Amino acid sequence: MNEKLEEIKKELAEKFEKITNMQELNDLKVAYEGKKGIITEMAAGIKDVAPENKKEYGMQMNELRQDFQDRYEKAKAKFEEERINQKLKEDTIDISLPADKPNMGSKHPFSRIIEEVEDLFVSMGYDVVDGPELEDDEHCFRLLNYYVGHPARDAQDTFYIDEEYLLRTQTSSSQSRVMQANKEKTPIRVICPGKTYRRDDDATHSHQFGQVEGLVIDKDISLADLKGTLEIFARRILGDDTKVRFRPSYFPFTSPSCEVDVSCFKCGGKGCSLCKGTGWIELLGAGMVHPNVLRMSGYDPEKFTGFAFGTGLDRLAMFKYNIPDIRLIYGNDIRFLKQFDEAE
Ligand code: PHE
Repeated sequence: MNEKLEEIKKELAEKFEKITNMQELNDLKVAYEGKKGIITEMAAGIKDVAPENKKEYGMQMNELRQDFQDRYEKAKAKFEEERINQKLKEDTIDISLPADKPNMGSKHPFSRIIEEVEDLFVSMGYDVVDGPELEDDEHCFRLLNYYVGHPARDAQDTFYIDEEYLLRTQTSSSQSRVMQANKEKTPIRVICPGKTYRRDDDATHSHQFGQVEGLVIDKDISLADLKGTLEIFARRILGDDTKVRFRPSYFPFTSPSCEVDVSCFKCGGKGCSLCKGTGWIELLGAGMVHPNVLRMSGYDPEKFTGFAFGTGLDRLAMFKYNIPDIRLIYGNDIRFLKQFDEAE
């Protein structure tokens, strides 16, 4: 082997032995393989080699290059591994330190009341159904007997998307969908909980509120069935001593219709600030399903009867959990929500 090359090879072996880090390795690469590096210059020197020795010189050059490359890769891998090991050592986590307690959040009074109402009705054989919040005029109004221009539409002013679509004002719209889907199949026993929307015009109301409505259709359903069902509902949700009172009222989709009051659970009916001295709290709207509504959704009113009822979930939660201001329900203040966990 060319003496000079031999010398370089030996010198390289020694230098590779000595280097201790990546920086030194890089410096070595520049010194040997850089633009003016020793190996680079040796390679350029081939032009001065006698023609008969050129081939051998070239082969030896390649050998030297390969030798350098092998040592370089090996050293690089070693330093890389050392770097990773060092990092792992520095990054160890002290698992003996107590961790921060994760904030688990708590169940909203709304969710609590829905679950309670659902459990009760499911135990009586009802299904829970859901419908779209963005409804068409047909399901929100026309199929419920509010023809176009009906004066009762005014009391249900809401957010209109266009002439036909609006945010539903009541979950009765889901009930029309259930009837249409079942077409004379009976019995229907459903509750429809969900968000509904109406124009907000005083501090005790909100433009969005939760509602749960129920619908039962079968042969021979009477007002007595409605009365019994709502009495169970009131007693189970508000307490066994709750008295229930039915007052005649008007809804376009039920006939006869009534408003259902419950005895005030704060004063037991004696009269207090919650019931404004009357001893009663207005809780539900209800009635027998109007024959037109049955007919429009595919049920022959000569053969089938049914009842419907509905109540505001916000009101129910306010009464049940003694919440003084409706805005607290939507404020999402963690301190407000936490109280319900603590009370459990
Ligand atoms: N949908 C009525 C409302 O939003 C309540 C209701 C439901 C009344 C079913 C009668 C029967 O006020």
